[in-house]
Parts: sequence; structure tokens; C-alpha cells
Amino acid sequence: MRAFVKSILVSFCTTPPQVRRAATGTDIFEENHNRAHARYGPFVFMNWTTYLEKTAGRKHSPILEKALSYVHTGHRALDLGSGAGNDARFLIGKGFMVDAVDSNPESQRFLLPEVDFVQSTFDTYMFPLERYDLINAQLALPFNSPETFNDMFEKLTKSLKCGGIFAGQFFGLKDAWAERGKITVHTHEEIHSLLQAYEVHLCKEEYTRKGTVQNGDKVWHIFHVIAERRT
Ligand SMILES: C[S@@+](CC[C@H](N)C(=O)[O-])C[C@H]1O[C@@H](n2cnc3c(N)ncnc32)[C@H](O)[C@@H]1O
Repeated sequence: MRAFVKSILVSFCTTPPQVRRAATGTDIFEENHNRAHARYGPFVFMNWTTYLEKTAGRKHSPILEKALSYVHTGHRALDLGSGAGNDARFLIGKGFMVDAVDSNPESQRFLLPEVDFVQSTFDTYMFPLERYDLINAQLALPFNSPETFNDMFEKLTKSLKCGGIFAGQFFGLKDAWAERGKITVHTHEEIHSLLQAYEVHLCKEEYTRKGTVQNGDKVWHIFHVIAERRT
């Protein structure tokens, strides 16, 4: 157990990027891949409706809660990948007007009636210009395909007011799902390049082995980001 805890490596983006290899990563990837393939067939990444049912009623994201302390321009939020609505519910409770986007239409069933829901993929969503004080995207953007990711993120950025806050995650190269074509992964330099228009308040790298909602443990390589639009 102690050895496992030690294997949880957390560092900050301000430190030089390091490539760490998890000896078990490939095995876990294979296990997950085979299980998911057996359940859902080829090319289907995950059953998002099962995900909704399993995560309904969970606590909101701690990164979102931390991000709220940086929001100073107003109370209009966009929740990208709204899932079971746990973050949207938290934001409504904090007095935000919330728009939500998810490719799964079932997400709307889990949202409070005050939330304005649009069924869309991130890359086809018509981001309104300079509308939001906060854009929340917890464990969501990496499921956008690599081909459209940069264009989508540029539109996301322009949808924030100047001084607005982005809170969300990017996946790193060592994530066990990185080998799947539809997932977008980034190096720490690429993340900083994407965030050129921002002042970065938090960029915390997490490299660990822990559970997934549907397919057992996997190696996670995630960058948790809170950033403020400057230009
Ligand atoms: C891992 S879940 C995260 C849900 C929620 N943010 C949370 O933290 O519990 C990813 C969510 O993004 C949605 N999603 C996946 N790929 C998407 C895409 N390309 N465009 C829009 N939504 C997508 C899924 O339906 C799912 O609700």
C-alpha cells in the first residue's frame, strides 16, 4: 500500500516536464481496452449513459470549487460535458446562471430545470462570443478529437469575457487512454501554448493509478488547470 501511495506522483507545470513510465500502464490499458471492447464493441469509447447513472448525486469537482475564488467578473457559467449535472447544481447553488453542453442528450435529465442545456459535441458547439465569466470542463475536453481540438479551444477562449476563468483538465501523453485515437493528449509545453491568452493560476500534473467509473483501474496522467483569460 505504501509503495502504491508513493507511486502517486504530483508535480507542478512550473517544474521541467519529466517523462515517467508506469511499468503497469500497458497492462492496465490492455485490460481496460479488452473489457470496454467486449462490452461496447470496437471504437466506442465509453457508455456515457451508464456513466451518468453511476455518477448522479456525486459531489462537485474540487477544481471547480477552487476556481470560483478567481471569478470576479460576474455569474454566467458554461459547463462543458455536463454529465450528471453535479457541477451545474453546485454552480446554481452559488448563484450562477448556467448553460450546459453535452453530446449525450440524456445529460439533460440530470440537470436542474434552471440550466440551459444544448446537446452538441464541443467542436460543433456555437460558442457565443465573450459571454462567460466561467467555463467549467471537468474530465471532458480530452474526449474531443485531436483534429478539431485547437480550433475548439480557440472558440472556447473567445467565449470567455476578458478576466473570465477556465477550469478543467487536459490528458497527458502517459495516460492509459492516450493510445486511443479519439482522445486528445498534450505535453505540458503544448498546454502552455494553448493557454497563451491566459494567466495560469493552477496547472497541477497528476500521474497515478486509480479507478474509472466503468472499467476498473487505469493509469491517469492529467493536468488540472485553472486559468484566467487575459487577451
Ligand atoms: C468523463 S464525463 C465527465 C462529466 C462531468 N463533467 C463530470 O466531471 O462528472 C465526460 C462527459 O462529456 C461528454 N462528452 C464526451 N465526449 C464529448 C464530446 N466530444 N462533445 C461533447 N460532450 C462529450 C460525455 O457525454 C460525458 O457526459
